[in-house]
Amino acid sequence: MNRTPLVAGNWKMNGRKDLLAEMADALAGYAGAAEVVICPPFPYLAAARSAMPETIGVGGQNVSEREDGAFTGEVSAPMLAEMGCGYVIIGHSERRALYGETDAAIAGKFARAQAAGLTPILCVGETLQEREADSTVEVVCGQLQAVIDGVGIAAFARAVVAYEPVWAIGTGKTASPEQAQVVHACLRQSLAENDPDIAQSLQLLYGGSVKADNAALLFAQSDIDGGLIGGASLTADSFIAICQAAE
Ligand code: 13P
Repeated sequence: MNRTPLVAGNWKMNGRKDLLAEMADALAGYAGAAEVVICPPFPYLAAARSAMPETIGVGGQNVSEREDGAFTGEVSAPMLAEMGCGYVIIGHSERRALYGETDAAIAGKFARAQAAGLTPILCVGETLQEREADSTVEVVCGQLQAVIDGVGIAAFARAVVAYEPVWAIGTGKTASPEQAQVVHACLRQSLAENDPDIAQSLQLLYGGSVKADNAALLFAQSDIDGGLIGGASLTADSFIAICQAAE
């Protein structure tokens, strides 16, 4: 099956209005075949939606698992949708590790995102310790299955999954294309055991120190459909080069 490549930039807690302007300018000239999404911090989402060309998606980096109400500091899925988001990153390893997000909370966020019409980008990934203990596949497929069990496989007909090995995030240590492909194939197999059609159509992204010079080899792997980009999404030149590598 021919899956459309997707490249999403996760700005994390970086970027100001000037980056938004720089990126909007650069992306206005982008007419490649990859789907492109940028995920700036919450305060910039509405401005991003108005600055970016219509073909570029905008996404949040997190969303509440609750309905609107007395939850100071939280942002709900309908709010993201109303601000023009089409996507939201869910279960990033930084949120799992630093903010204690559990699989149950992540499944809740996924469900809220979908109910509001957003496409969740669900992140899974193992730590270095887990990789060294040979439990990578068990960990990442477990994280995926926990959400499938929570929301049902049908919900994955409109979802993206990103494999981001924790040891490769922001470290400059990219998983080799072969290492990443092995895990992507296992994730797709896990999905196939739940629903073969969804497994074939779902976009599986790789994230973790993707740069302009290593992107093409990663994206050439048969089960890697694009990338979730951190550091290299913070300059227009490198981000555009990565989008081009995905075509
Ligand atoms: P880096 O590309 O900076 O390693 O970050 C990856 C990531 O966490 C994207 O969500």
